[in-house]
Amino acid sequence: MEVIIQPNHHQIASIAANIIRDAILKKPNLVLGLATGSTPIELYKILVRMHRDDGLDFSDVTTFNLDEYVGIPLDHPQSYHTFMAHHFFDHVNIPKANQHIPQNISDNHEEFCASYEEKIVCAGGIDIQILGIGTDGHIGFNEVSSSLASRTRIVTLSQSTLEANAIHFNCDVNAVPQMALTMGIATIMEAKKCLLLACGTSKSQAIAKAIEGPITSMVPASILQMHPNTVTIIDEAASSMLSEVEYYNRSYANMLSL
Ligand code: GLP
Repeated sequence: MEVIIQPNHHQIASIAANIIRDAILKKPNLVLGLATGSTPIELYKILVRMHRDDGLDFSDVTTFNLDEYVGIPLDHPQSYHTFMAHHFFDHVNIPKANQHIPQNISDNHEEFCASYEEKIVCAGGIDIQILGIGTDGHIGFNEVSSSLASRTRIVTLSQSTLEANAIHFNCDVNAVPQMALTMGIATIMEAKKCLLLACGTSKSQAIAKAIEGPITSMVPASILQMHPNTVTIIDEAASSMLSEVEYYNRSYANMLSL
């Protein structure tokens, strides 16, 4: 795993945006896996700027979001549909038909989950999957103890996730939906490249466990150690519990000088 440590959030987002821009220039029909949460917001801002100011063309790009709450309407201010429209989709030229976000309106979740997986396969698979990380090491809404072989499915959110996400629901933990639809861990692992982004000391323990700890369903992000092409881009605060910082920095410096 490549680990890139940067001084601040903006630099993390810039590196991720440059990777995505270069990939779109090389393959205009790129398939992007998208994440929500506060971490990727700056990345979306930069991509929007690249579209607006430099003409980066998303017209052939297809996207698949990681997850969505179950039990709130799609147009709820805190739904991930609303989040994506607000931070990204309303500002770039990705055709509506190419934008995929798990739906929370279907009665038949199993059928929906199977069809979501099928759509990813039909699109040729995800080229680049953007990932954030929960303070407990979850990715998407794959909570602690999720099967490392899990596929897209409906899940119950952990107490730690409900508490972390309460900030978006007027700090009322009871207002946070209890359930969500999420791509599975095995689904995420099929992406050709993963970009794991994290910033702040609140993520330092999860990052240390995910990158340097044992691979375990108790830290779902630790499975990325088995992914052949994951780039973890984090700030110094999030890197503060890693033991191999000197090596990661030297390795990145050598990569830049190639
Ligand atoms: C939620 C999302 C995850 C995200 C995590 C961290 O649980 N489902 O995909 O990575 O929050 O969010 P943040 O970036 O706001 O810390």
